[in-house]
Amino acid sequence: MTQDLYSDARLYDLLFPTSEAAVDFYRAEADRVGGRVLELGCGTGQKLIPIAADGHPSVGLDLSLDMLDVARQKADERGVSVEWQHGDMRDFDLGDEFDLIFIAGNALLHLHEADDIVQCFRAARRHLAPGGRFAFDVFHPDVRLLADADGVRRPRTTFADPDRGDVRVDVADAYDAAAQVTRGTWYFSTDSEPDFQTVSIEVRSIFPQELPVLLAHAGLRLVERFGSWDGSLFGAGSSTQLCICESATP
Ligand SMILES: C[S@@+](CC[C@H](N)C(=O)[O-])C[C@H]1O[C@@H](n2cnc3c(N)ncnc32)[C@H](O)[C@@H]1O
Repeated sequence: MTQDLYSDARLYDLLFPTSEAAVDFYRAEADRVGGRVLELGCGTGQKLIPIAADGHPSVGLDLSLDMLDVARQKADERGVSVEWQHGDMRDFDLGDEFDLIFIAGNALLHLHEADDIVQCFRAARRHLAPGGRFAFDVFHPDVRLLADADGVRRPRTTFADPDRGDVRVDVADAYDAAAQVTRGTWYFSTDSEPDFQTVSIEVRSIFPQELPVLLAHAGLRLVERFGSWDGSLFGAGSSTQLCICESATP
């Protein structure tokens, strides 16, 4: 049976281990802005727990209770205090304001309709403290890769699972050009357990020219767009869109 990836948080952390460059970027942004931090779609807390450990009062919101359970467990093990909230990034009211709100690791791309993205941006803006920053990273869609997403199952990656041993991952991706959504089925196998787990992952593409328009609809303004974690500016060859935004009205 095909499952949602986020119902198996342990598998998520093995498949997508912490990116130190991404952690460093968001930590530096939290230190630069100072004060309270909110992460939307915080997952297992890969970025938020180090930020909270630096001393920022931190709140993490996620739709998946399984991901939040693992996040809480990891923070407790490290003795780090984080307020974990179960909620939908499109519609939440925490009754509080934050100096930095961020959405990391392509989490925003789980919102497929333009209206959903604008609703999320509006909810974030309502929670921004005066002078606060809203940051997120989404991949830069490459039309050549999207054109290759033809629904055929192919080997994608491998990782070591301490319990199972070496795991091979095959992916069958199909790109729906009208919806701008890539629908993937990911198959996990070991030598002794072929296809022991199958999960679905669906991600939207946000093209560079539509991004500022979506932000403007929510009363936000793009301040900077970087193309990689080292702070180089976004351009045609960039693999990521790392966006720093602020409220369009003071
Ligand atoms: C790719 S993971 C990223 C997790 C984390 N930000 C990181 O960088 O490791 C995406 C996360 O977004 C969460 N998510 C998806 N849709 C959501 C929504 N509408 N509201 C809140 N969280 C959502 C998922 O449950 C998952 O934990």
